[in-house]
Amino acid sequence: MAELTGKVAIVTGGGSGIGRATAELFVDEGARVVIADVDAERGEETAEALGPAAAFKATDVADADAVQELVDFAVARFGGLHVMFNNAGISGSMHRSFLDDELHDFSRVMGVNLFGVMVGSQRAARHMAGHGGGSIINTSSIAAINAGGGVMTYRASKAAVIHFSTSIAVDLAEHGIRVNCIAPGHIATPMTSYDMTQVIRRTQPLQRHGSPVDVAQAVLYLASERSAQITGIVLPVDGGTTAGPPIPRREVRREPDREGSAGGG
Ligand SMILES: NC(=O)c1ccc[n+]([C@@H]2O[C@H](COP(=O)([O-])OP(=O)(O)OC[C@H]3O[C@@H](n4cnc5c(N)ncnc54)[C@H](O)[C@@H]3O)[C@@H](O)[C@H]2O)c1
Repeated sequence: MAELTGKVAIVTGGGSGIGRATAELFVDEGARVVIADVDAERGEETAEALGPAAAFKATDVADADAVQELVDFAVARFGGLHVMFNNAGISGSMHRSFLDDELHDFSRVMGVNLFGVMVGSQRAARHMAGHGGGSIINTSSIAAINAGGGVMTYRASKAAVIHFSTSIAVDLAEHGIRVNCIAPGHIATPMTSYDMTQVIRRTQPLQRHGSPVDVAQAVLYLASERSAQITGIVLPVDGGTTAGPPIPRREVRREPDREGSAGGG
């Protein structure tokens, strides 16, 4: 039996990257999925490709009324809401130094990455609380766990997503609502246009290029009954980056032989 048979899910930012891969996997696993995105073209195209088990709803997650309409749409269209994946996010502008950052994008980055997650969680939970519970999964980032340069507002927003999510995990548990975070590492999507090879070499013990599907598999776990006892966690999907940097290649040292020379010819 598929993992999400009979379940209804919303995936925000479902028109691209991690959200799209998750919507595809959820449908494969028997769910009916509402794809929410500000990018109507990509969102509609994704829903069409997935067939009758999917529908698109144009939504700006930073707009509370639009998010309420999204939840109402999912319930009206597919008869319920069991899984809310608050995944839509933006990176904001990159600066060489924090000293150069005028913080012009603060409101928008916080509005999408933090308020969007907060209001998405709340409006989904208001439905779930009266209908037997559910699973909320919020997208943070390894940028919320490891310190680093650039995109400070993004880092702050994603760190806040973790504290918010673990806090509402406590608050909503009595309603049978589980709340967890995923923290992707460097995943090739339209958001990450840089060459990752060097970054992965420097930072990732597994030395593997993670894909949107890798993240989708983790989201599926948190969405399904397999994680029934799990709430309030942050699950990095990062090839070990937050555990620590890879060990530099060790030189193979040759032990001196009995005569005291290092041997060899
Ligand atoms: N790709 C990575 O390496 C990486 C790493 C850590 C965290 N993340 C997070 O994963 C999430 C998905 O990112 P991605 O890499 O798939 O990027 P992406 O750009 O491919 O997808 C993001 C989607 O969100 C949509 N979106 C943006 N603003 C929105 C809004 N206000 N309302 C609704 N939809 C909106 C975009 O149109 C797009 O379809 C983001 O929250 C991102 O911060 C990504």
